[in-house]
Amino acid sequence: LEKAKTDSLDLKNTVTRQAKKIVQNIARMQTIVDNIRHFASKEQNSETKLFDCKEPIYSALTLTSGKCKEKSIQLNFQCGPEELPIRGNFYKMEQVILNLIRNSIDALEEKRQQSIQPEREMYIHLQAKLHKESVIISVEDNGIGISQQNIDYILQPFFTTKESGKGTGLGLSISSRIIKEMQGRLSINSTPMEGTTVQLTLPLVQHHEKE
Ligand SMILES: Nc1ncnc2c1ncn2[C@@H]1O[C@H](COP(=O)(O)OP(=O)(O)O)[C@@H](O)[C@H]1O
Ligand SMILES: [Mg+2]
Repeated sequence: LEKAKTDSLDLKNTVTRQAKKIVQNIARMQTIVDNIRHFASKEQNSETKLFDCKEPIYSALTLTSGKCKEKSIQLNFQCGPEELPIRGNFYKMEQVILNLIRNSIDALEEKRQQSIQPEREMYIHLQAKLHKESVIISVEDNGIGISQQNIDYILQPFFTTKESGKGTGLGLSISSRIIKEMQGRLSINSTPMEGTTVQLTLPLVQHHEKE
């Protein structure tokens, strides 16, 4: 009888483990499909227009604020009242901001799990401002940071430091491609254990260029 009990417990554990894996893989597939949708559907998604860069930022914030609240991450956005017109595909721009916020959430989660300075507040600060002929958007977090040996690889497709089931390694490569398409630049600054800032520099659409 004892043996039958142990056997059934073993079976239960195995099933639980497998079920967990299935759920993880569904989440992974969701992220991949999400990214591919934006990557591949050139036809529907190539429409470019003029918009204020604050708009896709607000919509990305709406999509991620729940998760941040759940994880006690302070998510905020600082910008002035001035218009920040840029030209591009609205949804791709939103996708870029989403990718960056999600990376910051993961980096903060990883830091929390290693319980490095758990008493310190976790934050993600977004900022949008004018600088000369450019719009500068930055996403800053005080998460785990990026090690010296990884920093050269993080823009490569499929490079990830996340466990299988979590990362696809596509977020940054797709984002930098989208920003390049918009004649902009994506740069990353990071201090291991301190945090990371990703900065996007995009051409400001001047008054006379607004058709
Ligand atoms: N804000 C960040 N803080 C720390 N590491 C980051 C951050 N953003 C990206 N990274 C690193 O860059 C890698 C690649 O990011 P990404 O292309 O978005 O793929 P993924 O998030 O699927 O791993 C991540 O696995 C992580 O190691
Ligand atoms: Mg990512």
